[in-house]
Parts: sequence; C-alpha cells; structure tokens
Amino acid sequence: MKTALVTGSNRGIGLEFVRQLTNKEYFVIATCRSPEQATELQKLFQKNPHHLTIMKMDVADPQSVENIYQEIKSQIELLDLLINNAGVNLTRHEFERQPDYEVLGKPHTATFLKTFEINSIGPLLVTTRFIPLLKKSQQPIVVNITSQMGSIERKNYGGYYSYSASKAALNMITKLLSHDLRRLNITVLAVHPGWVRTDMGGTAAPLSPQDSVKGMLRLIEKVTLRDTGTFFSWDGSVIPW
Ligand SMILES: NC(=O)c1ccc[n+]([C@@H]2O[C@H](COP(=O)([O-])OP(=O)(O)OC[C@H]3O[C@@H](n4cnc5c(N)ncnc54)[C@H](OP(=O)(O)O)[C@@H]3O)[C@@H](O)[C@H]2O)c1
Repeated sequence: MKTALVTGSNRGIGLEFVRQLTNKEYFVIATCRSPEQATELQKLFQKNPHHLTIMKMDVADPQSVENIYQEIKSQIELLDLLINNAGVNLTRHEFERQPDYEVLGKPHTATFLKTFEINSIGPLLVTTRFIPLLKKSQQPIVVNITSQMGSIERKNYGGYYSYSASKAALNMITKLLSHDLRRLNITVLAVHPGWVRTDMGGTAAPLSPQDSVKGMLRLIEKVTLRDTGTFFSWDGSVIPW
C-alpha cells in the first residue's frame, strides 16, 4: 500500500484528495487545523479506518509540523506522496482605505505576511521536514497545489496581490526544491487545480472537486523524475511560469 500525506484536508480539494486516494488503496495521513471539527473527514475514517488517519497540523506553525513528523515517523516507514494543498486567499483584506491613497488603498502588511506564511512557506516547512521519509520511497512525489494566478506570464489583469504573489513565490520554491531534491529522486511539481467549486473557488467555478482531483491524480500517476520542476494544470497541460 502506498502512503500519502495531504494538508488542509478537511474541506474542498484536500478532502477530495483524501476520498480518492483512499479509494485507490493508499494509506492517507489526512492533516488539518481542527480534526475535532472535520466531520466529513471523520465520516471517511469511519468508512475506511484501515486506509486513513487524521492528524492535526497547521502548516504555518513549525512546531505543529515538527510534532506531526515525530508522530508519523514512528508509524510509517516511508512517504510516497506529499500533497501541499492547504491555502488561503485573503485578498479582500489586502488593502485598507486611507485618505490620499489612490487606486488601491494602503497595503495591509499583516494580510500579506499571513498569506505568504501559509501559501508559500508552509509547503516549504512541510516538505523539508518530511524529506527523511520521502527519500525512502521508490518514487517519491511532492505536489505543491499552486494557482495559475501565480503565473507571471499569464498575468494580464490586476488585483489579488497577496494571493498571486504568494503562489508565484510557491512556484519559485517548487523550482528550487526540484533542483535540490533531484539527487534524492524526489519529483517536485507545481499543480494548478483549475477553477474549482469550493469555499475558495465559489459556486460559479466550472470544475467540480471530483473532476479536478481525478485529473490531478491521473497526472501524478504518470509523472517521473523527468518532469520534476514543471508547472502543470490539473488536466496535464503545462503552464508557463
Ligand atoms: N478552488 C479554486 O478554484 C482554486 C484555484 C487555484 C488554486 N487553488 C488552491 O487549491 C488549494 C485548496 O483550495 P480549496 O479551493 O480547496 O480551498 P478551501 O475550500 O478554502 O480549503 C482550504 C483548505 O486549506 C486549509 N488551511 C488554510 N490554512 C491552513 C493552515 N495554516 N494549516 C493547515 N490548513 C490550512 C483550510 O483549513 P480550515 O478549514 O482550517 O480553514 C482548508 O482545509 C489551495 O492551495 C488553493 O490556493 C484553488
């Protein structure tokens, strides 16, 4: 049985990853900030207790990442797949109205920092901590769930400063990790899930979490080390940086 760890797995795309991975006979470590409130995850656990464990992890808190690593390493020998899915979009709060600030308002530093902490640094914290377990897998894969909004080449509109910049930073971190972890055979990808109907994507989004995750798992199943450092879309097409 392969093992996978998913961050932000209590709702949206993360929850769907857990559902589909357990159906594919993975053993899944489903992590989230508040397991006690994760009712959908708990239902999945009741249906499939041998394929799932639920653990508390806040990806922005190094101590929380350390705690879960220490707990997991006594339970599993290796990790085949790490899905850095947790993310926030706090763009509604990124500028404050202030007199004499035209067009955008005054940037709200705390919103930018929080977004970077979760979206950019979180995946780096989790990945670096789990290298000892990843390197023991035959074909370890790290998937950083990014966004097309982080593609500088595709950016032909304004707005969404904190979110877009945090995902562009995550894209760079993905590229750097792909170089540094290649000698350990670890494949590192940036993957855009599409515009998906979740709390973040909203009800107007064209893609269901089921189809998005199905596409991403199809991609994950066929990539090799040759693909490391690539920015993919959920359907397997390549996105320019
Ligand atoms: N939906 C889209 O259209 C879309 C498009 C492009 C990219 N994405 C990316 O896809 C990923 C999943 O998004 P989604 O649409 O499923 O969003 P969502 O429904 O808002 O879910 C976000 C998940 O991230 C978790 N999370 C947030 N901060 C966290 C932290 N510090 N530590 C651990 N977990 C944390 C949330 O947990 P809580 O319940 O505790 O808040 C929740 O489980 C994100 O990285 C997002 O940027 C989504």
